[in-house]
Formats: sequence, C-alpha cells, structure tokens
Amino acid sequence: MPIVNSEEMFKKAYEGGYAVGAFNVNNMEIIQGITESAKELNAPLILQVSAGARKYANHTYLMKLVEAALEETNLPVCLHLDHGESFEICKAVIDGGFSSVMIDGSHYSFEENVEITKKVVDYAHERGVVVEGELGRLAGIEDAVNVSEKDASFTDPDEVQEFVERTGVDSLAIAIGTSHGAYKFKGEPTLRFDILEEIQKRVPGFPIVLHGASSVMPEYVEKINKYGGNIPGAQGVPEDMLRKASQMAVCKINIDTDLRLAFTAQIREHMGENPGDFDPRKYLRPAREAISEVVKHKIINVLGCENKA
Ligand code: G3H
Ligand code: 13P
Ligand code: ZN
Repeated sequence: MPIVNSEEMFKKAYEGGYAVGAFNVNNMEIIQGITESAKELNAPLILQVSAGARKYANHTYLMKLVEAALEETNLPVCLHLDHGESFEICKAVIDGGFSSVMIDGSHYSFEENVEITKKVVDYAHERGVVVEGELGRLAGIEDAVNVSEKDASFTDPDEVQEFVERTGVDSLAIAIGTSHGAYKFKGEPTLRFDILEEIQKRVPGFPIVLHGASSVMPEYVEKINKYGGNIPGAQGVPEDMLRKASQMAVCKINIDTDLRLAFTAQIREHMGENPGDFDPRKYLRPAREAISEVVKHKIINVLGCENKA
C-alpha cells in the first residue's frame, strides 16, 4: 500500500461524522505502536512529522520506517509535515516523498499568511500533495516557538472563506481553545463550538483540523509522578468535547502529548520496578505497547474511526 494523501480520508470523515487521528512520530517504537493499533482496528491514519522530529530522526530514516510500517500493515497512511514554518521545508518534504504538508502561517499577518500558503499550495498541488493552513493562533509550545496566552487568538470566522478561496488549501487548522502541550486550561475546560459552527456554515463540507487535542490522560500523568516525575496541574481537552468536534467539521485531530506521556510513563515505571535493567528492549517494549493502547483508545473513544480505513 503506498503513502496516500488525505483527500479521500477527509471526504469520508466529514460525511461519516468522525475524524482521522494525526499522531506525531519520532522513532521506530512510536511508529510501530501507532500503526499496529490502526491495523488492528482497521482505521485510517495520518503520521505526522515536525521539523524537530525530522532533525532528531533524519528524513531518510523516517521515510524508511514509515515505508516498513506500510509494508507490514497494508494500510493507507498519509505522511504529513506538522507545523511547516517555511516554503523551503514544505518543498523539501514534498520532494522527499511526503503526501501532505502544513504551512503554519498563523504567526504572520492575514495577507502574508495568504501569500505563503498559496505559494506552498501551488507547489504541492502540482505534485499531488495536499496542504493544511492555519488561521488563528493556539497558545502553547510548538518546536522552539512558545505562544503565550496573551498572544493566542481564536480564529475569526469572517476570514475563513476568503482564506480558503484565495489560497486553495485543502484543510484548515483553527483555534477554538485547544493548545499544545500538557497545560491546556487554567480553569474549567471550554472549547468555542460556536466558532466551529460558524466556520462550518461559511465553508460547508470543508475539513477542519484541531491541533493541541491531547486529553493529557490522567493515568499516565499519575504514573510519571508516582515514579519520580513532576507534572503537577496538567490538564487536557475532555474526550467528549473532541468526539463532539469530530462529529462536526473537524476531520483531523492532532495528538502528540498523550503519546509522549504514555511512552515516558511506561519507561519510568519499568525502571522504577526494575532498577537493574539496562537493556533498552526491556523498557522500550512496554513503552511501545503504551503507544498502542493510547492509539486504540483514541480511535474508539475520541475519533470514532474504527473500521473506516
Ligand atoms: O505541535 C507540536 C508537536 O507536538 C510537535 O512537537 O515540534 O517538539 O516535535 P515538536
Ligand atoms: P498536543 O500537544 O495536544 O498533543 O497537540 C499536538 C499537535 O497539535 C501537533 O501538531
Ligand atoms: Zn500542532
């Protein structure tokens, strides 16, 4: 099964009232853990790679690992660049075999965002690659950029239709209250479903993307803290809110933090219980299994995409 783009996936997801999970990958165990669960549950899948992940693992290694996963699972998988910050990095991954890129122009003015997004769309579409843009700004940490709460802003529905028409993007990430990382809400979690609904009216049938959508699963945070970690006050997006969004226009839900927490929790637990172990296979195996458990849980309880591959 070759790497596919997300066009068909999103069409089916929009019509079917579910979302496709976009999971961040950084190494072999994470790729294996995710793809094994998607195969078991016959779920459509997006594997996404940030600039940081690409720098850490190397483009060629990541490509080969994803190719191996395709061969093993026989699933249609979309390989996506997460938070592309320039035309150059988008071009590099398109030339290097990715089927989807995000150009994150959310830090620019509207006009500059339109300009850079359109430039990427023109290059990508000629090569059968799809593009995700972003309007509005999430709080939290992405690579080296830390957006403070005061600089975060919700997506303005008035801008959406013009942005989509002028750029030709295939999907759009919006800001409705989610944020990156493990600390998403200070008080009661709320998402601006009114904004999502309004956007859905302005661009009917158009796929929307939710970043910062980890639920910060308490069992893993507790385990990390039990075994010497220190993650007090972490709070994620409630799963019922994500499920509701996936039944609306949200077709892609981004999850990284929950994978990181699960991976780390199992390694901490293993080392805590077996302090004499120094064989990486001994502690990476349970970490990989935890990734699988998280992905299964998301497919069934959050995304609703079981048996939709
Ligand atoms: O949105 C950011 C993702 O969690 C990727 O994080 O840039 O540290 O790889 P990263
Ligand atoms: P989380 O930090 O909530 O997992 O969000 C990940 C993300 O949006 C990747 O682009
Ligand atoms: Zn993101």
